[in-house]
Amino acid sequence: MIIKKIIAKEVKNSRGEKTIQVLIKTPKANFFASSPSGKSIGKYEVNPYNKSLIHDINFINNLNVNKINNLFKTKLKNKPNNFSLKVEDIFTLLKNLESLIKNKLGGNSLFALESSLLKALAKENNKQLFEFLYGKKIKNIKIRLIGNAIGGGLHSKGINNQKPDYQEFLFIPKEKTIKENAEVNDTVYKLSRKVLKARKRNDENALETNFNNEQILEIMNGIKNKYKKNIDIGIDLASSSFYKNGKYYYKNPTTKFNSKEQINYVNKLIKKYNLFYIEDPLNENDFSGFSKLLKQVRKTDNCLIVGDDLTATNPKRLKKAIKNKSINAVIVKPNQIGSLLKVKEVIEVAKKHNIKTIISHRSGETFDNTIADLAVAFEADFIKTGIYGKERKSKLNRLIEIEKMLKKKI
Ligand code: PGA
Ligand code: ZN
Repeated sequence: MIIKKIIAKEVKNSRGEKTIQVLIKTPKANFFASSPSGKSIGKYEVNPYNKSLIHDINFINNLNVNKINNLFKTKLKNKPNNFSLKVEDIFTLLKNLESLIKNKLGGNSLFALESSLLKALAKENNKQLFEFLYGKKIKNIKIRLIGNAIGGGLHSKGINNQKPDYQEFLFIPKEKTIKENAEVNDTVYKLSRKVLKARKRNDENALETNFNNEQILEIMNGIKNKYKKNIDIGIDLASSSFYKNGKYYYKNPTTKFNSKEQINYVNKLIKKYNLFYIEDPLNENDFSGFSKLLKQVRKTDNCLIVGDDLTATNPKRLKKAIKNKSINAVIVKPNQIGSLLKVKEVIEVAKKHNIKTIISHRSGETFDNTIADLAVAFEADFIKTGIYGKERKSKLNRLIEIEKMLKKKI
């Protein structure tokens, strides 16, 4: 592949915030990729930009394209055209690229740069991105959808200054296909809007409400029972956002818990509302609190205890969580770490230790749907996106498209 130009620029995400887009020009076509942005950003995520967005844009625009083209050529002597690349070759290329960049880019910029390069390389090899990264023929996909329907916490304004404390209320349908699961999520989203009488949407297009935490769980179970579909229910507490000096401060209703009380509270919630999925139930440093909760949960329930801010898509933090038996599932947000090599490593480590993997969007999203292809190629167990809005639908539609292609056996 010959890269003619690499151009980075500023674009807006779904919240109207600035983010980065990278364009790779080859003689064949133009390939774009962009990065989303988080709001409840974990302490252990890499910075989205090194110094600033402008710094990273300038850095990418000043990359010596010949150097990159040569780097690809010399490191892959037998394949001068980067044609018929094997998966190992692709990741060798990324490794070479990352050593050229030497940590000079933030997570958002590196992810956008690597995604656009991979899109270009996949096309050069006449492959779909997911196929190219998987390397073998994929028979079918078993990814379950996690749909963010109702919101609170840092992502929401609430109604008359009242909002749930939990950041996300999630429907996780269990029908046979991605298409059917996406339809179920559309329906439960509409039903939720009706029951909550919700008129507004929050930062990530989840419904705004002033109902309190447990009232919403009650409503979700009601919808599930009425609709008679096979649906699991989950929440993202994002509890680091309301944790201070050893206490969790709730506002709706007002109460505070120390770590032990928080563990008991979450354990009771799981039982009372038959929860299948709990993300960040404890603060981002509390590996041992997580492990106490997981131990209690394992005795009686089948619930995923999920690390997001705890693990920050960082292989080292994931290994620590595994060593401490803190989680049985992990969120993977590529721009939390930037490097796709590390994203791959996180998923491989998780799989090796029987930890379920959830590829996730961010609250401020773009139309880029690379995470859909990554979820398929890396065989993630789940993908978490919103249900409503073009930026969320672009990921779901891509998955439905891939499902269709696989049925036709590309
Ligand atoms: P963020 O939140 O994208 O704002 O970080 C999403 C989450 O906590 O899962
Ligand atoms: Zn989260």
